[in-house]
Parts: sequence; structure tokens; C-alpha cells
Amino acid sequence: MSPTARTPRPGGTGTPAPAAYIVTGPTSGIGRRAALELAEHGTVVLVGRSADRLAEVREVIERRGGTAVAVVCDLAEPASVRRAAAEIVTLGLPIAGLLNNAGIAQVAPTTNSLGWDTTFATNHLGPFALTEALAPHLPDGAQVLFVCSGVEDPTRKPAVMAGFRGGRYVSAEASARGEWEPGGSKLPGGDAYATSKQCSLATVLAFSRELPRLRINGVEPGFNPGTGLGRDSNLALRLLGRFVLAPLAPFIKYWSTPGTAGRVIARILTDGGDRPTGTGVYYDEKGRPMRGSALVHEPEFDDRVVAETRALLAQVPA
Ligand SMILES: NC(=O)c1ccc[n+]([C@@H]2O[C@H](COP(=O)([O-])OP(=O)(O)OC[C@H]3O[C@@H](n4cnc5c(N)ncnc54)[C@H](OP(=O)(O)O)[C@@H]3O)[C@@H](O)[C@H]2O)c1
Repeated sequence: MSPTARTPRPGGTGTPAPAAYIVTGPTSGIGRRAALELAEHGTVVLVGRSADRLAEVREVIERRGGTAVAVVCDLAEPASVRRAAAEIVTLGLPIAGLLNNAGIAQVAPTTNSLGWDTTFATNHLGPFALTEALAPHLPDGAQVLFVCSGVEDPTRKPAVMAGFRGGRYVSAEASARGEWEPGGSKLPGGDAYATSKQCSLATVLAFSRELPRLRINGVEPGFNPGTGLGRDSNLALRLLGRFVLAPLAPFIKYWSTPGTAGRVIARILTDGGDRPTGTGVYYDEKGRPMRGSALVHEPEFDDRVVAETRALLAQVPA
């Protein structure tokens, strides 16, 4: 498709409207494939922490005839997220969608420059801050899609079998300190990851109520073995994921591949023109609505996560 690719204007008049899509974490795995898919529909704003890795993805998109812009941003650092959001606004692009995809799963916890748990900062605080900063600049009907994870649900069978015990939220401040509700997962980093993803899904549901002019949704992309997500795990596990589990993924329930996940995500973000999607929907790995944990369906919980996250982020100097 040409660099000036267009999506149909909602309402189906046939008049093309320009489109741009913001993708965080486009340098690996699911986000990379989603960015390549979205480049078929418009300009892609590539948001990531390495200028070199962003340049490589941008070159691939441009070689295929698309357009892309790179914005360097460390999602684990709220100050970096603020700067990146301001830079994106300055670009003046007609944003049709924001994909909050960047994420990590750490085996050994680390902290960001503020001393906050890096998994919580990257997976929850970063996308939260980016969305809040960009929301006033998004046109009515724009899509905001958060890449969540089924491991937030303590009753989801495949997650429980893998050793997760669901989100273990105490408070946003406790999460920043790396403290989780006791009695959780024995998987190293399991509670940090599940809690950060539960907070993302709670944010989806709360924001969709707060901002009804936007379409704010979540997606569980399926278990995608062999992406960079397990990069902190030992070599044997990484090889197992890449060479044994990844080839099996297309055949196993709840599993997926970055190619399929990228297509599902692009479909959700771009369908709005012809088949407007709703808001506050949580999609599964095939793009079908799914439920999520009982806790995220308590609006009081979602509102508490949002209020506490705002209060935590407000501590970061301007
Ligand atoms: N893989 C799965 O089974 C699975 C299942 C459910 C949900 N998910 C979610 O899907 C999303 C994508 O994961 P993936 O499996 O594709 O992993 P991946 O291959 O490791 O990709 C993660 C992406 O996030 C970026 N990123 C990480 N930390 C960042 C930071 N501080 N600032 C900016 N960008 C950062 C990475 O950039 P670099 O290239 O610079 O590292 C990379 O582009 C994540 O949110 C993950 O939690 C994955």
C-alpha cells in the first residue's frame, strides 16, 4: 500500500480519511508484527527505547512502501513518557489508534530511576501515563488498545497451570515498591507481571467509562512462546520457547504467534471504519470478547487503581 494509505471514514461515505497509529514496543515480537500490519493502513508512530531498533523497523516499513516515524521513549520512566507524548502531539498526525503493547516479564526484579518496580512501571504506569497525555489530542472514536494478559485472572486454567495466581494488587504505591498481596505465585516475577497486567485491564475498563468519546479496549494476545518476553529466563527455557513451543503454537488452544496476534490487533484497531467496535471490550487471542477476572469487573476496584495510579504519577516532578 502507498505511503499515503487511507482508512475509510466512519459513517461509510467512502471519503478517505488519513490515519496514523501509535505502537509502543514495535521492535520485537507481537508489537513488531502489529506495526507492520498497521503500516498497511497508515503512518505508524514507532515508540520504543532504542533509536537503532526503531530505525530498523522504520526501514522495513519504508522498504514496503509505508511511512513511519520513530519516537524514543522508555516506558518505564514517567518523565520519558511525558516527553514522548509531547513529541507525538507536535507531529500533528491524525491519530486513529494507540496500541499500548510494550511490556516486560522480569525473572529478577529491577527498579527504574525513581526506585519503582520496573515491571509495574513498564507494563502499567507507562501505558497509563501515555494514554492520559495523548487522550485530549485524540479525535472522537479513536481506538486505544492495551495488550493485557490472561494471567491477571486467578481462575484462568492455563495461567494457573503455568504457575500464576492472578493479580496481587495491594495499592499502586505498594506495587511501585514491588510488594504484592501475600500467598501469590512461586514463579519468579509472576506476581509483578500478573498485577501489572490486571492494573492495565482495570485501566481499560475505568477509562472506557471516563472517556466514552474514545474506544478503549484490551486484548489478551494468547501465549506466544519465543518472543523476547522471556529474555531474562535461562538459555534452556529460551531455546525451548523458540524452537520447540513456538512451532506448536498454531495448534494449541489459548496459544498464538506474533503474526496472528499482530493481525488480530490490527483488525481491532482498524475495523472501526466499517464495523465500529465498542469500548470497554476485552478481546481474546482470536479477537473474540472474553471476560477477565471477577475483580476487574468491580468498578470500585478499577476506579481505585486509576485514582492511586494518578496519585503515584503526580509525585513525579514535572
Ligand atoms: N508473549 C506472550 O506469550 C504474551 C502473552 C500475553 C501478553 N503478552 C504481552 O504482549 C506484549 C508484547 O510482548 P512480546 O511477547 O511481543 O514481547 P517482546 O518480544 O519482548 O516485545 C516487547 C516490546 O516491548 C518493548 N519494551 C520493553 N520495555 C520497554 C520500555 N521500558 N520502554 C519501551 N519499550 C519497551 C521492547 O523493546 P526492546 O526491543 O527495546 O526490548 C519490545 O519492543 C507485552 O505487553 C506482553 O506482556 C505477551
